[in-house]
Amino acid sequence: MIVVTTPTGRIGSRLVTLLLERSSEVRVIVRDASQLDDAVRTRVEVVEGSHADPAVLDAALPGADALFWLVPPNPAAPSAEEHYLAFARAASAAIRRHRVGRVVGVTSAGHDFRKPAGVLSAAFAMDAELARSGAAYRALSLPFYMENLLGQADAIVRRGAFSLTFAADRPLAMVATRDIAERAADLLTDPTWHGQENLPLFSPDRLAPDAIARVMSEELERPVAYERIAMDDFAELLRSRGASGQAITDTIEMFAAQDAGIYDADWATAEIAPTDFRTWCREVLRPAVERTAATVGAK
Ligand SMILES: NC(=O)c1ccc[n+]([C@@H]2O[C@H](COP(=O)([O-])OP(=O)(O)OC[C@H]3O[C@@H](n4cnc5c(N)ncnc54)[C@H](OP(=O)(O)O)[C@@H]3O)[C@@H](O)[C@H]2O)c1
Repeated sequence: MIVVTTPTGRIGSRLVTLLLERSSEVRVIVRDASQLDDAVRTRVEVVEGSHADPAVLDAALPGADALFWLVPPNPAAPSAEEHYLAFARAASAAIRRHRVGRVVGVTSAGHDFRKPAGVLSAAFAMDAELARSGAAYRALSLPFYMENLLGQADAIVRRGAFSLTFAADRPLAMVATRDIAERAADLLTDPTWHGQENLPLFSPDRLAPDAIARVMSEELERPVAYERIAMDDFAELLRSRGASGQAITDTIEMFAAQDAGIYDADWATAEIAPTDFRTWCREVLRPAVERTAATVGAK
């Protein structure tokens, strides 16, 4: 039995489909079962509730051979570390109670980075807590998700631009979420691995934002420029939206660490995922941009 958290999320939903295609027995933990696709709901066991809740984990983990673990992002959390640790402490204790043999977690790349990295440091604290469970653990250690750029479809359509806080000419490691789901499915259905390891998974690209803009322009067949946002302006934007001081620090430290090359050391050992940025643009970003363009009536 494989237990999957966040089965309605980007990675989790793709993972459940892959596991069912491989005829695995799957049990999902979901806050609201009506959010599952009908095709999934009828083929999995469902435990309703949040995976931060020890009682929910006690209902979900009996008989589990393997667990897929993902802490939902919460940019508004008063403290990223407390957010990740609240989930991780509940998981670690429940994994021990139910003697789950193997755990595959979603985390950030850059574990050896020595400076504070905000939300990414919180994910590393989660890994340390999960490791204390004693289960075999693979920390899928991931750089910037290509899917983060889907939120820029509107700016691409309206202004011909996308914006981040990173230097225009500094390569940014990326990965497509479908490749994360695929790697997680491989690990969860493989009973032969042991021990605890970080497993960085990067796309084949090393594109800086200016190069990302060039690939987007070619694949979307519309001009796209990169506009760098100053970190102070980004902090001000978060403040104007009501973010707390710690939430702003957690986000700014994360972006600063990414711009300072937190992912660079993992290039040496990273597994190379199949999806490159150009393919992702063609297959995922372009349809999203076309849908946005149709909605706003732009070409
Ligand atoms: N974005 C990046 O560049 C990046 C890079 C490295 C690592 N990561 C990590 O990747 C993870 C995000 O993965 P993703 O994009 O697949 O996530 P996602 O699509 O945002 O899915 C998260 C799921 O969590 C569920 N959820 C939300 N709040 C919850 C709560 N309080 N209790 C239980 N479930 C809750 C939601 O489902 P319902 O609403 O249906 O309950 C949602 O489907 C994060 O842990 C992040 O740290 C991200």
